[in-house]
Amino acid sequence: MTVASEEEAPPAWAYPVNPPDFKPSPDDGELKHVAGSTAGYKLSEIRDLFVAPDWHPEDHGPMPEVVMHGRKPQVYACGCCHRADGPGGPENSSLAGLPVAYIIQQVADIKSGARKTSVPQRGPTQAMTLLSTAATDAEVAAAAAYFAALKPKPLIRVVETQTVPKTYVAGWFLAAMKTGDTEPIGQRIIEVPEDVEQFERRDTHSRFVVYVPVGSLQKGKTLVDTGAAGKTIQCRICHGPDLKGLGPIPAIAGRSPSYIFRQLYDFKAGNRAGIGSALMKPTVANLTPEDMLSLAAYTSSLAP
Ligand code: HEC
Ligand code: HEC
Repeated sequence: MTVASEEEAPPAWAYPVNPPDFKPSPDDGELKHVAGSTAGYKLSEIRDLFVAPDWHPEDHGPMPEVVMHGRKPQVYACGCCHRADGPGGPENSSLAGLPVAYIIQQVADIKSGARKTSVPQRGPTQAMTLLSTAATDAEVAAAAAYFAALKPKPLIRVVETQTVPKTYVAGWFLAAMKTGDTEPIGQRIIEVPEDVEQFERRDTHSRFVVYVPVGSLQKGKTLVDTGAAGKTIQCRICHGPDLKGLGPIPAIAGRSPSYIFRQLYDFKAGNRAGIGSALMKPTVANLTPEDMLSLAAYTSSLAP
């Protein structure tokens, strides 16, 4: 870790941790549904790490076994966390449309320990690490080919604001409190599902509101486009003119800002140190958490 002060510690908004007494609502045995789907799943199935709820089979091609069910006891179904057609959620990562070679390399980096996280007590990351050690090369290759072929969907609406809904940690992600209470945004991004229940049912059509500080979109755009007088390197050189990726380099447009922030922070802290990270090192070396926030805000506002 190269971050020194309290102010630079990993921010809770980007790395939410469940409270110790966190318990999801009990399974009432009823089949749950989502709009636009004839499927039905019980809560226990929706939360089963070996099930990828497939609400909209018409949205994607045939799912490989490792994506749909995984393999017991430790290869959890990729589609459970990253969802059936790869939009993921703020607690993990979108995978739709990422390059095949990139996906394979990241799983290898997580497995080798070169790619870690700055807040190791986060459950989803622990599970990803565990499964990376158990998955075979053939399973990872099948999953990579499947996710790479999918088209990422625009699911994010960004709002610059001074005031945000009060939130709680709802299972490694933030959700707006139903009381309607608000609070100042401060130096945070608040990313919440438009409909928590729909998102908890792992509906891949779930949409997000992303509240960002006033002025952060322009600050992020300036950093992306100009490097802000040598503070960083113009992102489009490597991530492509529209930030939708270039060759083996991943897209950063239209993805969860909580995820994007964590990556910038983890690169700088030396916790994301896989083979490809050498190219990101000079980019993040002089970035403050505020710069990273602006970059995450701006990139999340773009079409994926
Ligand atoms: C238990 C939930 C869970 C499951 C199941 C899961 N992942 Fe992940 N995955 C995560 C989390 C959490 C991250 C890292 C998020 C972060 O760094 O903040 C991640 C990150 C990744 C990344 C990095 C994405 C990027 O843009 O760099 C890849 C690739 C990936 N997972 C592939 C897979 C594959 C392939 C499978 C199935 C074999 C799988 N995951 C199953 C939770 C999961
Ligand atoms: C010199 C080339 C280069 C430049 C310039 C660059 N990147 Fe990257 N970036 C990469 C590479 C290569 C990776 C993959 C790193 C790895 O494999 O761990 C990456 C990964 C990332 C990731 C992680 C994506 C994911 O799916 O996990 C983010 C976020 C990111 N870059 C943001 C930026 C931003 C923002 C800028 C501009 C301020 C930028 N990059 C400039 C090469 C670059």
